[in-house]
Amino acid sequence: MEKKTIRDIAVSGKRVLTRVDFNVPLDENSGQITDDSRIKAAVPTIDYLIEHGAQVILCSHMGRPKGRIIPSMSLKSVAERLSRILRQQVLFANDCIGPEIEAMAEQLKNGDVLLLENLRFHMGEEKNDPAFAKALARLGQLYVDDAFGTVHRSHASIAGVAEYLPSTAGLLLEKELHSLCKILREPARPFGLLLGGAKISDKVALIENILTKVDFIMIGGGMAATFLKAKGFEVGKSLLEGSTETASYLIDKAEKNHVKLFLPEDVVVADTSDNSNWETVSIRNIPPDKRIGDIGALTISRFTRILERCKTVFWNGPMGIYEVPQFSEGTRAMARIISSINATTIIGGGSTAEIVTGMHLNGRMTFVSTGGGAALKFLGGETLPGVAALLDKKA
Ligand code: 3PG
Repeated sequence: MEKKTIRDIAVSGKRVLTRVDFNVPLDENSGQITDDSRIKAAVPTIDYLIEHGAQVILCSHMGRPKGRIIPSMSLKSVAERLSRILRQQVLFANDCIGPEIEAMAEQLKNGDVLLLENLRFHMGEEKNDPAFAKALARLGQLYVDDAFGTVHRSHASIAGVAEYLPSTAGLLLEKELHSLCKILREPARPFGLLLGGAKISDKVALIENILTKVDFIMIGGGMAATFLKAKGFEVGKSLLEGSTETASYLIDKAEKNHVKLFLPEDVVVADTSDNSNWETVSIRNIPPDKRIGDIGALTISRFTRILERCKTVFWNGPMGIYEVPQFSEGTRAMARIISSINATTIIGGGSTAEIVTGMHLNGRMTFVSTGGGAALKFLGGETLPGVAALLDKKA
C-alpha cells in the first residue's frame, strides 16, 4: 500500500515533528563527523518544510546509549553541521521531551528549524514506551518520518508517535522505498547480488526473498568463511558467524532456483593477533593458524567479470576487514568496478555506503541507500514498522 508523503498534506504554519536518521559516524578521537551523507540526505525534506512555511522539529538517535546521557553521543555537533549545510541557524534543544522543550517548540516561527537532543538518552525510545511517544507527539501537530535507516525499528519516535499524530513519509524515505521497490519488482537482468560483511543471519531473508529475481550471488567478507566451511574447506582461525547448516541451506536453495552462487577462490589470510604475515592463498590451502581477511586477486577478477555482465547490482557488506589496509583491496576493487559498469547499481547503506562515499564514488552509483539494516529487511520482504505506521495514500 502506498503511503502519504509530505506532498499530500498541508504543512504551512504547522509544527512538524520530523524523524531523521542523523546517526552519523564520528571520529573516535576528535568526535568530528566523518561522513555527513545522512545529514545531507535529509535536506530535501527539511528544505521542503521550510519553503512551505512549516516549523521544523527534527529528532534522531545517535549511537546506542541505552537510556543514558553520554555526552559524546550528543547531537549538538550535528545541529552545527546542519546549520552550515542549510545556511540558516538550527536551534538545538538539550533534551527531546518535557515542558521546556514544548515551550521551545511553541515559540518557533514558520521556517525555523529545531533539532532535539538524542532520543536514545531516554529508555522510552527503544522500548517504544507510549508515555514517551506521547511526550514527543506533544511537540508537533504533524509527524513526518524521513529516517529510512531506522524504519525497521519499532521505537517510540518511529512507530509509537505515529499513533498520536497524522503521519506521512518524507522525501528521502519515499526515494529509498521507490529505489528498493524497483529492484524487487522489475530488475533489469542479469541481476547480481554482492554480499559481504560478517553476518549471514541478517541476509538469509534477503537471499530467500530475492532468489527468483537474481541471476548471480557473489559472497565475500566474513560470511564467506561459513559458506566455505559448509562446502568442506578448512578456514583456519576465521570467525564462523552463523551455522554451516544455514549456509548449506542457502547454497541448496540457490541451486534449486538456478541462481549461480560464487564463493571466493582465493583469499588474503594473516595472523589473528596482529594481521601480520599476510599472504594470498587458494581456498584449498588456508593455513590452520591464520584467518581470512579479504578476497584474493583471482576472486576479484572473477567477481569483476560477473559484475560486468550485470544490468542490476545490489551490494551490501565489505569483502573483508576493510579497516585493515592489507585487507581493503577486495572491497575497494568492488566499489571501483560497480561504479564503472553500465547497470542500475544500488548500495545497501551502512559501512558499504560509507566506503563508497569515502572513495568519492557515491555519485557514480544509481542509488546509495542511507540504511543498511533497513534495506536488508525491506529486500527480505519484512514489514517495516516505520512505514506501516504511516497514513495510506487512499485513506
Ligand atoms: C543505522 O546506523 O543503521 C541506523 O541509524 C540504525 O541504528 P541502530 O542499528 O542502532 O538502530
